[in-house]
Amino acid sequence: MKVLVVGSGGREHAMVWKLAQSPRKPILYCAPGNAGIASLATCIPMKSDDVGGLKNFALQEKIDVTVVGPEAPLALGIVDEFRKARLRVFGPTRNAARLESSKIFSKEIMARAKIRTAQAQSFEKMADALAYVERQELPIVIKADGLAQGKGVIIATTRDQAKQAIVDSMEKAVFGQAGKQVLIEQFLDGEELTIMAFTDGKTVVPMPPAQDHKRVDDGDMGLNTGGMGAYCPAPSGTAEMQDQVCREVLQPMVDAMARLGSPFQGVLYAGLMVVDGTPYVLEFNARMGDPETQVVLPLLKTDFLDVIESVVEHRLDQLPIEWHRDAAICVVMASEGYPGPYQTGMPLFGLPSTAISSDSSMVFHAGTAQKGNAIVTAGGRVLGVLGRGRTLSEAQREAYRAVKTISFEGCHFRTDIAYRALKA
Ligand code: AMP
Ligand code: GLY
Repeated sequence: MKVLVVGSGGREHAMVWKLAQSPRKPILYCAPGNAGIASLATCIPMKSDDVGGLKNFALQEKIDVTVVGPEAPLALGIVDEFRKARLRVFGPTRNAARLESSKIFSKEIMARAKIRTAQAQSFEKMADALAYVERQELPIVIKADGLAQGKGVIIATTRDQAKQAIVDSMEKAVFGQAGKQVLIEQFLDGEELTIMAFTDGKTVVPMPPAQDHKRVDDGDMGLNTGGMGAYCPAPSGTAEMQDQVCREVLQPMVDAMARLGSPFQGVLYAGLMVVDGTPYVLEFNARMGDPETQVVLPLLKTDFLDVIESVVEHRLDQLPIEWHRDAAICVVMASEGYPGPYQTGMPLFGLPSTAISSDSSMVFHAGTAQKGNAIVTAGGRVLGVLGRGRTLSEAQREAYRAVKTISFEGCHFRTDIAYRALKA
């Protein structure tokens, strides 16, 4: 059994690591991978958005199933191309992935499926958008329609900020084509929660609730990042909340996409705001979250390969999926300057030598590369250090115990991952 994982971050390292534990002993490939992934899989020097190249590789190598990590290749239609070539692939088609690649499309389907979400209006003309914000309550949320690497959402607390965000997106094109249309959305105040689910286009199986930390500094202060850490389970995602989200959000969305003739297969990610006990959708993603994957997949008891195959073969209803009951926390160690400009090539010290972790901790590589005998930094987010325990506070202790043993020049990380959950 040959499996190809597409991507190069901490999420993909977690996927490859989980697949490496499968009793079915798959032969693993990753494109392009990183220095950590290289200890578990053969890394193929091919960009994750090189759809044609990846397809040819999968055909040549006779890959049995491909798992797509990031959103860019999904939005480019990697799943459609692979299927045309009769290759099995885990992820949504280009049309289904529009739930993430177009926030306006996503809102339309939510409205049709009667899924609760913040009220919003979409705009193609800047003058209309500027006139609209004059009449709205503050704060107000301005969102670029397309993929903007997590930077396309501005929460404006003044009218001037809102107008600036509209001009930046629609006229100055700071998000390129992705910001030519914007969505202007009501601000929701509540508690954020992520629930991801496996789906084969019909059956929906939710994963334990997780929460990431997007801001760079402790106390959720400072600039937005791709994610400085995550934890699972998130206490606000009680069993009742999980059921409610399945019933009122995930299943209706999967059903709506099937009715539309674009069945959604893979992982559907619901980013939610819980307001007075009621979940509202902030966004859908068409893939697993990063760094949420690094805390959710370690808790999966069922063989990940079995889950992937039952999704691809549309028989998810026949696979009982089980989870460990413990807790996981991931602390991201980042390069000096991140999320702004940063240098790479700093040697890493103190990395554990085993590719498969101890029971209580694991180091997932995100932006690393092999240089001679050394492993060096190669990205903004460098490592995701996982701690596990019976409780979140035990997991937090384990994660930071492992963080302390690792170093590289300029390294920074948050010291309070999961603080909201632990305070509650
Ligand atoms: P998104 O990419 O849509 O998840 O937005 C990124 C972040 O912006 C979310 O994780 C929230 O913290 C925040 N956000 C997005 N939409 C809203 C909203 N309508 N009200 C309040 N916060 C929001
Ligand atoms: N951690 C949020 C995301 O993966 O989009």
